[in-house]
Amino acid sequence: MTTLTKTEGAPVPTGSDPFLSVRDLYVRFSTEDGIVKAVDGLSFDLQKGQTLGIVGESGSGKSVTNLAVLGLHNPASTEIAGEITLDGQELTGARERTLQKLRGNKMAMIFQDPLTALSPYYTVGRQIAEPFIKHTGASKREGRQRAIEMLTKVGIPQPGLRVDDYPHQFSGGMRQRAMIAMALVCNPALLIADEPTTALDVTVQAQILDLLKDLQQEFGSAIILITHDLGVVANMADELLVMYAGRAVERGTVKDILTAPQHPYAWGLLGSMPRLSASVDEPLHPIPGSPPSLLNPPSGCPFHPRCAFTSEVGGTRCADERPLLAPGRASACHLTAEQKHTFFTEQIKPRLG
Ligand SMILES: Nc1ncnc2c1ncn2[C@@H]1O[C@H](COP(=O)(O)OP(=O)(O)OP(=O)(O)O)[C@@H](O)[C@H]1O
Ligand SMILES: [Mg+2]
Repeated sequence: MTTLTKTEGAPVPTGSDPFLSVRDLYVRFSTEDGIVKAVDGLSFDLQKGQTLGIVGESGSGKSVTNLAVLGLHNPASTEIAGEITLDGQELTGARERTLQKLRGNKMAMIFQDPLTALSPYYTVGRQIAEPFIKHTGASKREGRQRAIEMLTKVGIPQPGLRVDDYPHQFSGGMRQRAMIAMALVCNPALLIADEPTTALDVTVQAQILDLLKDLQQEFGSAIILITHDLGVVANMADELLVMYAGRAVERGTVKDILTAPQHPYAWGLLGSMPRLSASVDEPLHPIPGSPPSLLNPPSGCPFHPRCAFTSEVGGTRCADERPLLAPGRASACHLTAEQKHTFFTEQIKPRLG
């Protein structure tokens, strides 16, 4: 896609090459209604042993971004531009065979919807064992043993029996856990976890998050964690990327963003997400308006139609000029650093409690 222009620079200046680097990523879908601009010039980096949290409203492009990293979009209807590099290897131009070798082995994904990942026609055990056998050359018997071990790790009772069940014989939560077992079976160096624990109850959720931490500790894996749960982000992630309308609007350490967010959208998001520390009767503050159409996204800053601070920027700048994300800790907003600080501390923070 040669017509697309570069928009954003390197995210975080670091001494060494990042393990995963995404540069100026664009993902566009051709549909009957027109072109859906699902990811619009996104850049981020991830180092080994680190966890990057990605947050943003439904439809902001979180899953589409990560499916692009894994090379899972249908090339017939998807236009992808930009550069994705994993451990020095360029993925965007890679052949399907190369990607297939990497998937399940070096990089794996816990999908938002378990039914996307599990086939109804094969037993759960066989599906967990398959990538292990394929990538390690283990025997069928060893594969089955490994599947039982993985089912045990994700807390499936009677794993020796359940290993021979088909996905429909599992409950929704069990299917989710089987899929997690499948993603972790080869100890992937890059794990993408898309809402991995949403369907699980709290104790199982904690067990799964511990499992991800173990993987990271033992193998130095890099993790991308997509979640709506700020409690999970605070507990798991090092850096955070806030996405809106297919773009990164804010980037920084989890601590910085949760304690002193800079972008008006991040202010809204924090107020609209349930927090672990919140009391039960504390009201949530949904962001007014609705997410933009990606067929025809707003000009300038995509958040401007919903933003309460455009008059502070003045004129029609927010509608006319796309704010860029500077390297390092940054937010893509035309407010000055001083305005961001003042508005957050004086107007937003008191409301967040
Ligand atoms: N195959 C596709 N064809 C057309 N549009 C698509 C396709 N896949 C995703 N989209 C659109 O791209 C946008 C981003 O979708 P994506 O699934 O990445 O959102 P998300 O941030 O993961 O949301 P959620 O939190 O609901 O999972 C949405 O508007 C979605 O409708
Ligand atoms: Mg999603």
